[in-house]
Amino acid sequence: MDKLVIEGGRRLIGEVEVSGSKNSALPIMAATLLAAGTHRLGNVPELKDIETFSALLTSLGCTVERSGDGFVIVNSTRIDEPVAGYELVKTMRASILVLGPLVARCGRARVSLPGGCAIGARPVNLHLKGLELMGADVRIEHGYIDVRAKRLKGAHIYLDYPTVTGTENIMLAATLAEGETLIENAALEPEVVELARALKKMGAGIEGEGTDKIKIKGVEGLNPLEYTVMPDRIEAGTLMVGAAMTRGNVLIKNCPYEYMDAVVTKLKEAGTEIKSEDGGIRVVGTYPIRSVDIKTYPYPGFPTDMQAQMMAMMCMSTGLSVITETVFENRFMHVAELKRMGADIMVDGRYAIVKGKERLSGAPVMATDLRASASLVLAGLVADGITEVSRIYHLDRGYERLEEKLKRLGAEIKRVKE
Ligand code: EPZ
Repeated sequence: MDKLVIEGGRRLIGEVEVSGSKNSALPIMAATLLAAGTHRLGNVPELKDIETFSALLTSLGCTVERSGDGFVIVNSTRIDEPVAGYELVKTMRASILVLGPLVARCGRARVSLPGGCAIGARPVNLHLKGLELMGADVRIEHGYIDVRAKRLKGAHIYLDYPTVTGTENIMLAATLAEGETLIENAALEPEVVELARALKKMGAGIEGEGTDKIKIKGVEGLNPLEYTVMPDRIEAGTLMVGAAMTRGNVLIKNCPYEYMDAVVTKLKEAGTEIKSEDGGIRVVGTYPIRSVDIKTYPYPGFPTDMQAQMMAMMCMSTGLSVITETVFENRFMHVAELKRMGADIMVDGRYAIVKGKERLSGAPVMATDLRASASLVLAGLVADGITEVSRIYHLDRGYERLEEKLKRLGAEIKRVKE
């Protein structure tokens, strides 16, 4: 296993490009199952989760390869067996996104029930409720979800929670259903909007994406897709926090700024200077860092995927910051590791109270999940001395060569074999 070794104290200075969005690429890769043929996807990041999803599509009978010019080519002409096995699904919960498309295309699917993960139980009951309302027969046995439907029928589906992949799964399935589907209390995330755009390019009849009511008119068939994935708003936010914490000065050249209001607002409240420049976004960190309160919510609220990164920043602020995690029930595992670095944080259920300090001290710490890893790297950038972040396979799931980007910005960071 690899670890990252960071010597704190360097400011991040320079220009950087964010990679394609993991959480946009995954549902779009699932969409290729809806139309037999060859699909070309651009700006797909080179991440562990993308590799895993590619292996999943291959296990279904597709071929997936990266072309020389950076495109991912998916040929979904053949689907031998609509079964997503435990071995693959257990490594990546987003595998559940093949369920809707497979039922729509093949009339049946058998997908391993994704277990929970470090940050929470992560149930998929709303995904299954949607498919049942569309006429599917859904059974759970031996750890697998078995879904059958000669042809799905349009339905009126109210989601008890605006689940992101739940909305995406139902939208994917509804594109080939008979009749019209209305998803109420749908997720508003940009990744849902991007998926709808891609599906409409394939010939799907969708409207209302980006609102809490999405209408999908089923069609007889869809065409292969050519699409370029948008930049990753969470990676962009993570780099913004890095510039802010290190009193850096960074130009993010392809920043999806229009999707980052909550994060930008909170960083500005903390004293960070953020403005448009040369078609990119200039981020200038200033000290002292003011303490701000954070409460995570579904989009357009403050993204839960940025909570750990903001907590690292608040560890260096001038006062008290109350951080409330409303989306997942166990997304404070970075706290124990940050405390090893001298952070002063008290957790009570969904609340974390962060008392800012002058300094953090470098220490050996352990990554526990994707965004927790990022927060430990950010803390290491400003901590006194050496920080070693182990188990960074968590980081590699969602960040494309992050240490190289940080090194180019002046960080003293290197990847070593443990
Ligand atoms: C997506 O996960 C993202 N993953 C997550 O990003 C992100 O943290 C999350 O949305 C919230 O923004 C992908 O897009 C691949 P949810 P998802 O369904 O869809 C409850 C990362 O770091 N819920 O919106 O699984 C659930 O328990 C990852 O890149 C149900 O109760 O999130 C949770 O409390 C981590 N029943 C809440 O909804 C369901 O059927 C939010 O979950 C589904 C969800």
